Amino acid sequence: MNEMNPRPNNIDAFWMPYSANRAYKSAPRMLARAEGMYYYTNDNREVLDGTAGLWCCNAGHGRREITEAIQRQAATMDFAPTFNMGHPLAFQAAAKLAEITPEGLDRIFFTNSGSEAADTALKIALAYHRARGQAQRVRLIGRERGYHGVGFGGMSVGGIGANRKQFGALLPYVDHLPHTHNLVANAFSRGQPAHGAELADALEGLVALHGDTIAAVMVEPLAGSTGVLIPPVDYLRRLRAICDQHGILLIFDEVITGFGRLGANFGAEALGVTPDMLTMAKGLTNAAVPMGAVAVHERIYEAIVEGAPAGIELFHGYTYSGHPLASAAAIAVIDLHRAEDLPGRARDMAPYFEAAVHGLRGLPNVIDVRNLGLVAGIELQPRAGKPSDRAMRIFHRCFDAGVLIRTTGDIVALSPPLVMERPHLDRIVETLAEAVRAEAA
Ligand SMILES: Cc1ncc(COP(=O)(O)O)c(C=O)c1O
Repeated sequence: MNEMNPRPNNIDAFWMPYSANRAYKSAPRMLARAEGMYYYTNDNREVLDGTAGLWCCNAGHGRREITEAIQRQAATMDFAPTFNMGHPLAFQAAAKLAEITPEGLDRIFFTNSGSEAADTALKIALAYHRARGQAQRVRLIGRERGYHGVGFGGMSVGGIGANRKQFGALLPYVDHLPHTHNLVANAFSRGQPAHGAELADALEGLVALHGDTIAAVMVEPLAGSTGVLIPPVDYLRRLRAICDQHGILLIFDEVITGFGRLGANFGAEALGVTPDMLTMAKGLTNAAVPMGAVAVHERIYEAIVEGAPAGIELFHGYTYSGHPLASAAAIAVIDLHRAEDLPGRARDMAPYFEAAVHGLRGLPNVIDVRNLGLVAGIELQPRAGKPSDRAMRIFHRCFDAGVLIRTTGDIVALSPPLVMERPHLDRIVETLAEAVRAEAA
């Protein structure tokens, strides 16, 4: 039993997010501590982390530099408001972040989560057009199978039916592009799939339908949460070109693809396409303290801020925007990210990762393997009449064998910390292969 984190007696009160509460509570799995590539359960069992927590602990767990920065700041000043007030770390964190964001995206708006970052970016897009005398641009375009968190903006622009149907009326002026997942043409692609760039042209169709009322398009460069959907070659470039042609802002949701995951600071850099705004969270603080951010192009900031009458320019913000502990964590993370060249490590490991995950091809019920940077999706044939069951059972088998994976429907997603070494990956893939075989037996 772990003394720091004893097993709680009452597990009823916590309404768990995005969880099958009843199933979990009938057989709880408790993580009690973490270090490097490993979690340790309540009964001190080692669990190798194949998912960087929830796509977020890119630098590995329990990094001393981050922990100490948070501890120092907690002892110096717990909180300071950032509404017409300031503290140095928020400014330092923003300036440091602007050094690694794509060129031009140098104005940083802090939030507390990826969901808030998505809603913030959408609101900034509306405010930008209004500031420029184009108040008719109120329409927001997302993509099927897109995930932008759970606020009303991100949920509405997101393209996951299950996330929406419980909640009735959403934002009224929203439309969606088709998703890019194509198992017929692109199965078992290594890196970016060859087919599907033309799906970006659907934006032309939406422009024909909606005219000059579109404010922004928001997409994940690589959709993680709906099962690792990798952008086809040239798709994002085409989307960028159509947005430019029609005065539409392009927003990348980089909550998963930021901070080295694709072998560069951000997915924008890895994929060679620069958006007008970019959202992030997760890896920004290595998940040690909640924080999100939107990196905004200089020209958007200027249109909203420089052109406004005296007083508050953007009526938006959170009590905890630029929170001192989160800012301290972000500064430590960016320093660490640079000192250890985490994007470079991901880039160097990517070919080995690709070969290892594609080794799962040919196992029973594996209908696709796809990968980019240090992300992979392994798609399984669903059991007849029991969607998600096969993957969930494989998840349990892996966990019992000491490896944490993530599943979405019948897709297994791997996104290990970027500090992973080859033996870690070998163990993750072997354990997964064993579980896939056992489920087919
Ligand atoms: C692309 C993307 N956007 C937004 C979010 C929401 O972030 P959060 O859970 O921090 O609100 C996520 C979370 O997984 C995500 O993957």
